[in-house]
Amino acid sequence: MLPFSSIVLALTCLFATLPATAKLDVKNKPQIRVTTSFTNFNARIMDHWGGGGGATWTISNDSAHPFVSRQFGGGKRRDIRGSKTFGSGYPWDSDDASTLNGRGFPFGVWPLWWGNDFMGTDEYNSTMDTIRPGGQLVTAEVKLTDPKWYRGSTKDETYYVLGDVQSVTFIMISFVNWCHTTPAWPRKFDPLAANTPIRLENVIQYYRASSFALASTLYNNTFARTTSANSTGSSPLPQQVDRSEFRKCVDGVIANALPIMNKPPRIIKPSLKWGLIFGLNGIPILVLAFYTVTLSYGLLILIWRHVKVFLWGRTLTPNEKEQREAELDYEAYP
Ligand SMILES: *[C@@H]1O[C@H](CO)[C@@H](O)[C@H](O)[C@H]1NC(C)=O
Ligand SMILES: *[C@@H]1O[C@H](CO)[C@@H](O)[C@H](O)[C@H]1NC(C)=O
Ligand SMILES: *[C@@H]1O[C@H](CO)[C@@H](O)[C@H](O)[C@H]1NC(C)=O
Ligand SMILES: *[C@@H]1O[C@H](CO)[C@@H](O)[C@H](O)[C@H]1NC(C)=O
Repeated sequence: MLPFSSIVLALTCLFATLPATAKLDVKNKPQIRVTTSFTNFNARIMDHWGGGGGATWTISNDSAHPFVSRQFGGGKRRDIRGSKTFGSGYPWDSDDASTLNGRGFPFGVWPLWWGNDFMGTDEYNSTMDTIRPGGQLVTAEVKLTDPKWYRGSTKDETYYVLGDVQSVTFIMISFVNWCHTTPAWPRKFDPLAANTPIRLENVIQYYRASSFALASTLYNNTFARTTSANSTGSSPLPQQVDRSEFRKCVDGVIANALPIMNKPPRIIKPSLKWGLIFGLNGIPILVLAFYTVTLSYGLLILIWRHVKVFLWGRTLTPNEKEQREAELDYEAYP
């Protein structure tokens, strides 16, 4: 029989290699990397099917990023659905319903742009698409391969998704897999073009802090432009859309799969692993070690402080140190 400690070690190694965010076991799970700094590799990851949540992240003022000092992240998967009103779907930063100007980015992406500075969104206009997380705004047709898949569906029941190119492409893969959808490559979305297939009035649902939308040309929301400043009111959906099982499938896939920003990485320190091994092998070892370490630690700290000040003068304050360590964590990710 193997010694107990070998088994423990083997188990520890096994669990230590599992990724922290493995919600769904998909190899090469699609990801969007959101980078905001040139002075290091400061970045956070948006995951298809990811759970979101965690601490927010402030864009540091070191690389002239256009949204310096705004917050990213923290939005949870369960908060991803908004309403039919532009500006909906923000878990935080939505105090002023009349404008999206100056808001943070709870899920990692900034909102859609409808042109003409609608609700203060020119700061996210197409000029900014060069650095929009997930890439430029696009739209793609969502159509059944065959109406037979859903009772009551017809050949011309068509929807459109609207969002950054990465999100739209990933979500199309999921539609094809889960909702019998005909694959369609995204097309550039220009809200001001005369022949745009989708307008503000056609949106039946916003998601992810209004950065993604599902729309139908069968729907005309007469409230879309007039009272959105007060985030109230919408025309009812046409029955075919409202009752459609196909729409419900598409909506469910978006809510569950759309990429959202992950929690900040959790760095597993080697000391944790050793602690586990010792803890399982015998509490007495730990108790003894604890006393020894505490005593020597106190003594060492005392000496070290004097040596440090003597050698290098002032050190980082705890705040500065914490900030620096957090930054290093981001650099280490993924
Ligand atoms: C960023 O830093 C520059 C120079 O240090 C300063 O002029 C500017 O006001 C800062 N911007 C913000 C948003 O804090
Ligand atoms: C986007 O907005 C900026 C000002 O914020 C403006 O200079 C630029 O021309 C706009 N671009 C488009 C395509 O509207
Ligand atoms: C919605 O209806 C209004 C008036 O009824 C019309 O002017 C507008 O063009 C319609 N929009 C769409 C996208 O069909
Ligand atoms: C929003 O509501 C306020 C009162 O609550 C009203 O004064 C204002 O006109 C409304 N704005 C729009 C665009 O409907």
